[in-house]
Amino acid sequence: MASRRALLIRAAALAGAALAPAGWTRAFAQARLADYPFGLGVASGDPLPDGVVLWTRLATDPKAMDGGMTPAPVEVAWEIAEDEQLSRGVRRGRALAAAEAGHSVHVEVAGLKPDRDYWYRFTAGGHATPVARTRTAPEPQADVRRLRIAYGSCQKWEAGYYPALAHLAADHPDLVLFLGDYIYEKAASKGDVARLHPPEAADDLASYRHRYAWYKADADLQAAHAAAPWMVMWDDHEVSNDYGDDQDRSNPPPAQFLKRRAAAYQAYWENMPLRRTALPAGPDMHLYRALDWGRLARLAVIDDRQYRAHRACDADPDSKLIPAACPERFEPGRTMLGRPQEDWLAQELRGSTARWNLLGQQTLMGPLDTPDGQVSNDGWDGYVATRRRILETWRDHKVANPVVLGGDVHAFFAGDMSVEPGGPPVASEFVGGSISSLGMDAATMAAVLAANPRLAMGDGETRGYGLVDLTPDACAVTFRAVASALEPVSPIRDLARFVVENGQAGLKRA
Ligand SMILES: [Fe+2]
Repeated sequence: MASRRALLIRAAALAGAALAPAGWTRAFAQARLADYPFGLGVASGDPLPDGVVLWTRLATDPKAMDGGMTPAPVEVAWEIAEDEQLSRGVRRGRALAAAEAGHSVHVEVAGLKPDRDYWYRFTAGGHATPVARTRTAPEPQADVRRLRIAYGSCQKWEAGYYPALAHLAADHPDLVLFLGDYIYEKAASKGDVARLHPPEAADDLASYRHRYAWYKADADLQAAHAAAPWMVMWDDHEVSNDYGDDQDRSNPPPAQFLKRRAAAYQAYWENMPLRRTALPAGPDMHLYRALDWGRLARLAVIDDRQYRAHRACDADPDSKLIPAACPERFEPGRTMLGRPQEDWLAQELRGSTARWNLLGQQTLMGPLDTPDGQVSNDGWDGYVATRRRILETWRDHKVANPVVLGGDVHAFFAGDMSVEPGGPPVASEFVGGSISSLGMDAATMAAVLAANPRLAMGDGETRGYGLVDLTPDACAVTFRAVASALEPVSPIRDLARFVVENGQAGLKRA
């Protein structure tokens, strides 16, 4: 190994010499690969029946502002095989990790077989990543008997560690769905924190890149990526607190905010296992999409941030709570998704022949009243007409078994949704807690549950994630809870378990 590495470094130096003077930087970059360049781990994502995205981003020193990297591009090799020893290789290739893309690599592998595990790794400068697992989706008409999806959100670095992600990896999901707040953009908190990150807020490309690198240096986060393909969606903190369209909580000039959004979206693209279809163009990035898992499931993942109408009844920019009677939130023209995305979603739902129709979205989708009669204008309660249109599409087009998965609120919630309050259930929703971010205490939760009888369960004090086990007969959802996210290592338990049976709207405790 050592001699092979020495040989590679010498070869790189020779290549650099031949390319002088531009080659000087190249030789310099290769020389710095004396340090391990895969400090941010690997990932895979967005599986199709014949392929998957493989991702890595180079950083020899993840917590340095520049990641330890020079501006020179670095050649990275990748390989994917049918076995964990990589002895039955099926595809391999090379890609350039360029500074313009934050030294990230996105490989869209094609030509794979459907519905099976693969293993992959990257190599560069004589270094190799650990071997990671991924999986392809089944063929569209395949009669699939089971699918396990782990889903999570909200992993604020300062709030704790990621033992939840270590357990998520050990649960061996076919797919991981991440529903946003992968990073938090804010400046360091003044008070006590579980662990430190850079003092300044992320608000331009360099600082967003730095924040992702800081998070991605975490070993449990890397393990969760190495365990299964991910399907990712952002929420607000990948950009700025409570943002929507060209507005955030602090109301900066829209043109200035869109510059920040463009930087944040670019950094998001660079750090996630996404296809080229999601490549950002300035402040625009097409992230909503659907994934089919044979005839068993269709999973639509929607972007409720980029296209939403401005906040309803926004009298106090520092508070998201508004009177429930605010008339603006009921206006039929108000949209949470933007018309093109709403039309796309309706088409995905109407045209689906899947047994289960999962909707991955950022937050609690059904109504939530506070005990004193207020609602949040940052969630679906500020966009009642959009929610109603989706509920009516499920009901009127007899969409099979709609189940909603959510995050954002730093709590576990389970409940049914109906078109009219108190009406028959049309869909069930399951909000899967938070990986580390802190939520409401038990007394506050008790008051919230008392004010919202549609909710079967709520827990804001426990950190964890959700596990969805689908079969043709049932959708079982298990809320998985760690004892403490203030410890790097912490045991896991089942907090609650629910079942939705095929053809019978409404959740049951299991
Ligand atoms: Fe969050």
